[in-house]
Amino acid sequence: MKVITKAITIGFSLLTLVLLQTGCEGVEGPPGQAGKDGNAGVDFEGFAPGIKCATCHDSEQDTTYNLAGRRYQWSSSKHATGGHVERNTTTCAGCHTTEGFQQRSREGWVTQVVNQVDNGSPPGCFACHSPHARNNFSRRSEEPVTITSFIEGVPDATFDYGEGNLCVRCHQTRTSSPMSPKPDPTKTAITDTIVITSSRWYPHYGVNGQMLMGTGGFEFVNFTYTGNSHHTINTTIREEGCVKCHMAEPIGSGGGAVGGHTMWIGLTGCRDAGCHGSSFSSTDYAGATTAPVGAQTAITANLDTLRQLLIARNWLNPATDLLRASSSAPLRIAPAAKAGAIYNYFFIEHEGSLGVHNTRYAYELLRSSIAELRAPVSSIAELRAR
Ligand code: HEC
Ligand code: HEC
Ligand code: HEC
Ligand code: HEC
Ligand code: HEC
Repeated sequence: MKVITKAITIGFSLLTLVLLQTGCEGVEGPPGQAGKDGNAGVDFEGFAPGIKCATCHDSEQDTTYNLAGRRYQWSSSKHATGGHVERNTTTCAGCHTTEGFQQRSREGWVTQVVNQVDNGSPPGCFACHSPHARNNFSRRSEEPVTITSFIEGVPDATFDYGEGNLCVRCHQTRTSSPMSPKPDPTKTAITDTIVITSSRWYPHYGVNGQMLMGTGGFEFVNFTYTGNSHHTINTTIREEGCVKCHMAEPIGSGGGAVGGHTMWIGLTGCRDAGCHGSSFSSTDYAGATTAPVGAQTAITANLDTLRQLLIARNWLNPATDLLRASSSAPLRIAPAAKAGAIYNYFFIEHEGSLGVHNTRYAYELLRSSIAELRAPVSSIAELRAR
């Protein structure tokens, strides 16, 4: 018995020695494949040369990158739980699956259209990072993002908010139909008719990038828009974008599962010392644009008013919240510019922050849309067109 114990002790000492000699770094991985030409710094499919697996895959629990904690946070994010990973066809998989997103990255982000992804996974670690090929957790891309304009006469926009650029690769309007015909602010004559043939004539859901930078809404020609709110121009937000607020370090205890890779705000994202401070108590903040009521209260109320006006015109079906439009029974609107009210309704409703990202822009788009629908009819022809 004693002999066996001794043997085990020696065995352990030897093991310790081996580990000490290798610096506990673990087994060296195979060399990585060469990166794609012209895709500086991005190696795909392959392990970085000399990568030490145990840097991240520790035999116990790694405390270098705290991957287990990050995975735990991510698993409560809507990225993990949203369930829309089944949107896996060519026009959808580029944002709704990790595999599709990687394909876009490989192909230089030229398009959102990719191959159909079967058995795909939702936006996960290997969408936003490329840890095996890069041996670190740098973001897959932080290049500025071109956002296609779907409003006639409005040029494409460039979103450039540092780390947040990664988010806006997906959190932007999608380029597929049915975005035709384009809404056109200059079509204000009663003879200008727009014919909408789809009940889903709207920009996509995650239009947060456009809202933050103050673009992508329909601006009526006879209304004066006064610009954006503070979040659009704040220096820190310009550098870190979405990440500044949605991925704040979880602080204190009892704050709920927010911050980090959960992407949930709670209030941690607002309470940063350099921003609203620790006494900040609600995302429904009454800033200059909407005081004395909070931004979210004001946007919710105006969205509801606009919705009622769209229902009253028989454009919106209240049961489905979709347009009463199809190819067999199209919706005709004259003057065509009034359709901008529909566009703005969906733009702001789908955006989700209820004014937090850019209170002034959201508020004025809603106020102008409401004013446009309430404007007295200018002619018998317009009355007939209703
Ligand atoms: C820079 C950090 C890092 C290094 C170094 C690293 N990995 Fe990983 N690896 C990850 C992460 C992150 C995941 C995903 C973990 C998760 O899903 O929670 C992962 C997942 C894996 C998986 C599971 C894949 C799957 O689809 O479930 C395997 C297998 C793996 N790594 C092998 C290796 C090998 C072999 C090496 C060394 C050659 C290595 N890793 C080096 C970060 C790393
Ligand atoms: C690969 C594309 C992709 C990237 C990159 C991405 N997202 Fe998302 N995000 C999605 C999708 C898709 C959903 C909806 C998931 C679902 O419903 O299945 C989503 C959902 C969310 C939600 C929840 C929205 C809600 O309705 O509650 C937040 C918040 C969010 N993302 C923030 C971010 C932030 C912040 C970043 C950047 C750090 C980011 N996302 C990067 C695709 C992406
Ligand atoms: C440019 C990236 C992108 C493309 C392409 C894309 N989506 Fe999305 N989609 C998103 C993001 C980001 C969200 C999350 C928005 C949110 O939850 O605030 C989302 C959310 C959704 C939702 C959930 C809406 C809700 O109410 O929660 C559905 C459904 C959806 N997408 C369907 C599709 C379909 C179908 C396609 C293909 C025709 C598609 N998406 C293509 C980025 C994209
Ligand atoms: C939607 C995009 C997104 C997804 C999905 C995502 N990350 Fe991240 N990750 C980020 C961003 C952005 C940062 C930088 C956060 C910051 O600066 O505060 C980051 C930071 C990190 C860091 C810290 C890096 C450092 O150098 O300190 C680690 C580690 C990490 N992520 C691991 C993971 C793991 C593991 C997963 C999967 C479970 C994952 N990430 C999924 C976007 C993402
Ligand atoms: C100034 C801080 C801030 C910045 C910057 C910011 N967000 Fe938000 N975001 C918020 C707050 C606050 C909410 C509202 C959360 C709530 O009401 O619970 C929100 C809401 C959202 C929602 C809707 C969530 C839901 O539950 O429906 C999404 C999606 C989102 N943000 C994504 C983004 C993306 C993508 C970016 C970058 C383009 C971004 N955000 C930039 C603070 C921010």
